Amino acid sequence: MHRTQTQVGIVGAGPAGLMLSHLLQLHGIHSVVLETRSRQYCEERIRAGVLEQGSVDMLRSAGVASRLDKEGMRHEGIELGLNRVRHRIPLSELTNGKAVTVYGQHEVVKDLIARRIADRGDMRFECGTVSLHAIDGPRPFLRCEREGEADEIHCDYIAGCDGFHGISRPSIPDGALTGYERTYPFAWLGILAEAPPTREELLYMYHDRGFALYSMRSPALTRLYLQCRPDEDIDDWSDDRIWSELHTRLGCADGWRPQEGRVLQKGITWMRSYVIEPMQYGRVYLAGDAAHIVPPTGAKGMNLAMADVRVLAEAMRACYKDNSSARLEQYSAVCLRRVWKAQRFSWWMTSLLHRFEDASPFERRLQIAELEYLTGSRAAAASLAENYVGLPMEC
Ligand code: APR
Ligand code: PHB
Repeated sequence: MHRTQTQVGIVGAGPAGLMLSHLLQLHGIHSVVLETRSRQYCEERIRAGVLEQGSVDMLRSAGVASRLDKEGMRHEGIELGLNRVRHRIPLSELTNGKAVTVYGQHEVVKDLIARRIADRGDMRFECGTVSLHAIDGPRPFLRCEREGEADEIHCDYIAGCDGFHGISRPSIPDGALTGYERTYPFAWLGILAEAPPTREELLYMYHDRGFALYSMRSPALTRLYLQCRPDEDIDDWSDDRIWSELHTRLGCADGWRPQEGRVLQKGITWMRSYVIEPMQYGRVYLAGDAAHIVPPTGAKGMNLAMADVRVLAEAMRACYKDNSSARLEQYSAVCLRRVWKAQRFSWWMTSLLHRFEDASPFERRLQIAELEYLTGSRAAAASLAENYVGLPMEC
């Protein structure tokens, strides 16, 4: 058995785990990152792609934004579509110049991995089966086992950054945490297409047949989504069927419709709202998807992960450098205030734009009225804009 001593043991090399490890390094705090998947898998997994203003600022001030600044696409507005007509929400105008940046989550992951390697960080991909031990006491440790070989990572703290299906949250004793959950009666079928975007901004479209989203990844790649049934079989969706449905739902009265291209990737994303409280137990601190999930409509997932680890890294800095554990004790409460606001916004965007099969005619009319209010009232649009570009880090 091999034994390593570190200050913070981090489970998971997604945006949360990698950014935490990098921020800790900037504060002179040593960490080890354990990841079950390969580096290539982490770098190629297509996920969300919208960074709030605060996330961009954070990546910049942490010195990991040089490629983001070159390749990221700054968007100063989004479009909402209703009955084949688009309405622009001028995000920057409504938020004193803030904007979002379209940049794939896997690009953020690539940049962070490259930086951790350049800084000689201890990152262990394909590490085997990870387990958490002695989390109640002052000397917790992680064990990873692969092909009969075991490694132990002894640390002061464990950061559970291993996503919704990870091992950290289930390692906490039953009854210590409370989960709050909502599932939705639909999913998203997403494709990545080799087609240059023909719109400058994202288009969120309400349609009688269900929601559709027009997004992008680069000047050569379009990302598109269709609301579908949660039990949908992807094999039932040929590329032709997908394009036909995208044209029906996204096509606008002025003649605009998405440009087709080779489908490079397709998949189904399920929708769930989930929060665990508190986000900490003993020496284990949960961050990102390990602690909360939002439906993708508000584009908040990666941003919440970034906000959590910012609070956690700062709390750990105060602990090691100022000998004060007050911030660490407040970690969960500080994060949850913002998490719940993002939950509210993501739930609201989802409810606003999707087709609910069981909605009564009255409820459908209310949904349309709300969309019309939003696209016709500066005050209503300002609330959407404030949330979409991201609420202040601590709110
Ligand atoms: N041991 C080690 N690593 C694990 C384990 C485990 N038992 N289980 C999962 N992991 C790894 C996963 O392979 C993944 O690389 O943890 C990482 C978690 O990363 P993410 O799922 O990307 O979660 P997070 O870093 O919190 O980022 C949140 O991801 O799902 C999206 O929309 C979400 O954008 C949001 C972002
Ligand atoms: C994406 O580009 O993947 C994307 C954009 C906006 C969303 C969700 C996903 O709300």
